[in-house]
Amino acid sequence: MRVDLQCAVFVCLVVGGRITTALPAGASATIVYTDTLPNTPLSRWKSQLRYGRPDSLRNSPFQSKEAVEAINFRSDLEYYSAVSFGTPPQTFKVMLDTGSADTWVIARGCPTSKCANHATFDKTISTTYRNGSSDWQVTYGDHSFAGGLSGWDTLRIGALTITNQSLGLAMYASPQFTNDMVDGIVGLSFRGASNNPDNQTPMDRLVEDHLLPEPLFAVYFPPRQVASVGEFTFGTVNSARYHGDLVYVPLSRKPYWQFELEAAYIGNTVVDQRVQCMVDTGTNVLLVSNEAARAIHLQIPGARETHSDGWILPCSRSTVSAAPSALPGANESTTVSPALSSMALIAKSQSFSPDSTHARRSDLGPALTIQFSINGHNFTVPVAGLPLEPVKSRPGFCYSGVAGGSPRWILGTMFIKHNYVVFDHGRERLGFAPIRHSSS
Ligand SMILES: *[C@@H]1O[C@H](CO)[C@@H](O)[C@H](O)[C@H]1NC(C)=O
Ligand SMILES: *[C@@H]1O[C@H](CO)[C@@H](O)[C@H](O)[C@H]1NC(C)=O
Ligand SMILES: *[C@@H]1O[C@H](CO)[C@@H](O)[C@H](O)[C@H]1NC(C)=O
Ligand SMILES: *[C@@H]1O[C@H](CO)[C@@H](O)[C@H](O)[C@H]1NC(C)=O
Repeated sequence: MRVDLQCAVFVCLVVGGRITTALPAGASATIVYTDTLPNTPLSRWKSQLRYGRPDSLRNSPFQSKEAVEAINFRSDLEYYSAVSFGTPPQTFKVMLDTGSADTWVIARGCPTSKCANHATFDKTISTTYRNGSSDWQVTYGDHSFAGGLSGWDTLRIGALTITNQSLGLAMYASPQFTNDMVDGIVGLSFRGASNNPDNQTPMDRLVEDHLLPEPLFAVYFPPRQVASVGEFTFGTVNSARYHGDLVYVPLSRKPYWQFELEAAYIGNTVVDQRVQCMVDTGTNVLLVSNEAARAIHLQIPGARETHSDGWILPCSRSTVSAAPSALPGANESTTVSPALSSMALIAKSQSFSPDSTHARRSDLGPALTIQFSINGHNFTVPVAGLPLEPVKSRPGFCYSGVAGGSPRWILGTMFIKHNYVVFDHGRERLGFAPIRHSSS
């Protein structure tokens, strides 16, 4: 998650309490959050991703002038792109992040040994590099941070060349970054979200220099089973990537890509209405309020909230056979309501099964979707696609792609991999349409 800690909107919205982060490396840490960001589940997710190894890597040349590849490197959860800084170009893997506005890369000379795992930017060999006047630092919503020197240099994204882009040269970075796949971040939200609001973002620079046919970019993140490479298109919308017409909604609040969601449903059940929501390529999950997370999981057979792992659900049908009492975890509550508990028990062996015998089959079968109502149209995320990585200590259970804790909802890659999104910088609006894959 790439939300800037200094954003007043986020700070103090809060979840107090004690959250245990679960790291697949076997490490596990308890973090105490007080008066802090609402996005602690996200923090857990980011950590997991950063400590994990990517399950595939691919480098291939850019396909067209405007298209920039986004490599799906970990089960649809995180995508990176290749960009270069400096002259001659030094190439890096970065996250193109619509949830933040700072652009930075790990610098040569970063003293932490872990920086050696990364490509590092050497300003001394760039003929276009200029020193900035101040130190630079950024802290994100998951408490990860980076900092060092500020400077200016040329940034190349795909075939686009941005001169004099403000750039953070990280001389230190938290383990979330030094252990991550990416060498840096390119911030694509509006500049007010930056720690240095005076600095123009790459989109500001692209628009000001008239380098784009249209002042917008669009994102296509296909699920892994479809393709391992998605794309950002700068300046154009790729109509081959979506069905029907784009539905636009004005931004409700800059500097983020934020809008008012009319309503959200799971099946035919209203989850919430008139919700402030942002679209973030740097977040993995659907991050919603605690109440909404509860309302959604109530409708999902076998889903439960745990103290240590947040919301979890059966990875697939037939994978969960243990009775609730046999599940590990000393002090957790399942949130399955009494009315639904018998269904939940059936579901333990038949979750998402098309032929489940429980009542309300149409509501609980594989066709069950979460629907986001935007400007009179519903955009869906199938419940069958929610299970993320397996929870090691709970055989058959996976982390849920819906997490609670954020009054302002964040639609992360879990949403974007089902819906094409246009980030219209010039008209200050977002466009949505159901994703289309070339084969469909
Ligand atoms: C940037 O500042 C450093 C000292 O902090 C100096 O050694 C270097 O020459 C400067 N580089 C440029 C391009 O001005
Ligand atoms: C780069 O941009 C900054 C801020 O807009 C400006 O102060 C500086 O003069 C520019 N440098 C060059 C070489 O254009
Ligand atoms: C969106 O989905 C909900 C729940 O299924 C439904 O009640 C509503 O009519 C739908 N809206 C549109 C515009 O289709
Ligand atoms: C279980 O949760 C209750 C209420 O949250 C708490 O008072 C109790 O100490 C917890 N027990 C354990 C073993 O964690």
